[in-house]
Amino acid sequence: MAEITIPKEKLTDKPQVWPEDIEFEVVVCQDEKGGIAKDGLIPWDIPADRKKFAEITTRANPRRAKTITTGNIVIMGRKTMESIPIKNRFWTNEARLFIILTSDVKNLGDYAVLIKTGRIRPALSWKEISTLLNWMAWQEDGQFFQVFVMGGGKVYNAAFRNEIPGMTMTNLHVSTVYKDYECDTKIVYSNQAYMLDLFELEPHDTPERWEYAHYITAKCQAPVTPKSEK
Ligand SMILES: NC(=O)c1ccc[n+]([C@@H]2O[C@H](COP(=O)([O-])OP(=O)(O)OC[C@H]3O[C@@H](n4cnc5c(N)ncnc54)[C@H](OP(=O)(O)O)[C@@H]3O)[C@@H](O)[C@H]2O)c1
Repeated sequence: MAEITIPKEKLTDKPQVWPEDIEFEVVVCQDEKGGIAKDGLIPWDIPADRKKFAEITTRANPRRAKTITTGNIVIMGRKTMESIPIKNRFWTNEARLFIILTSDVKNLGDYAVLIKTGRIRPALSWKEISTLLNWMAWQEDGQFFQVFVMGGGKVYNAAFRNEIPGMTMTNLHVSTVYKDYECDTKIVYSNQAYMLDLFELEPHDTPERWEYAHYITAKCQAPVTPKSEK
C-alpha cells in the first residue's frame, strides 16, 4: 500500500488533470422509509448485514482478481465515525484505510489519537480525497484498491446527488429493513443523477424481514455542479 501522506515534491511531478474519475461504491442500510439513523445511532442490529459490509469492503478488486485484499479505502463523515461503538472500531491493525471527512480536524477531539495509532486519516474536502486517491492510484500504477462510501446521511446524499468532484459511484449496495424506525437522518436517492441496474438480490427473514440489493450504477445526466464543497 502506498504511503498515504502526499509528499509535496511528488505532487509537482503529477499531471494536474486526471484522466478519469475515481470510482467508488456506496454501502448503506436503510429502513423502509429511507431512514438510516435516529438520535445519532443506527436503531437496528442485523449481524448478517454488518458481516456483509465487512465482506464487501475488504474484498479484492475484481478487475485485479489476484490482488490481495489490503488497501481498500472506506470514506465516512465525522459524525458516523463518532457513532461507531468502541467495540466495533475496526481501524487498528486494519487492512482498510478509513478516511474521515471533517471541516476541521479539531472536531475529531479525542478521536484524533486514532490518526496516529490506526489506519485512519482526516480529509477536509472531497477534492482532497480525490486528489489523494488519484495520487495513490498513480503511485501503484492503477486502481488496484476499491473505494467505498459508508455514510452517514450527509455523505451518502452528496454521493447520490452526484456532487462529489472527481469521483463517480459505480455500485450501490443497499440493505433495506422492512420496518419504520422513525429515523431523523434519511437518505434521498436522486434518480436524476444515476440509473440503477439490479445485479443481485438477497431476501432475509431474521432477525426481521430485510433484503440486500446490489445495483450497478451509471450516470444518467451531466454531473450536477455542487453549490459548495460541503
Ligand atoms: N444505516 C447506515 O447504513 C448508516 C451508515 C453510516 C452512518 N449511519 C448513521 O448516520 C448518522 C450520521 O449521519 P450525518 O448525516 O449526521 O453525518 P455524517 O455524514 O456521518 O457526517 C457529517 C459530517 O462530516 C463532515 N463532512 C461531510 N461532508 C463534508 C465535506 N464535503 N467537507 C468537509 N467535511 C464534511 C462534517 O464534519 P464536521 O462537522 O466535523 O465539519 C459533517 O458535519 C449516524 O447516526 C450514523 O449512525 C448510518
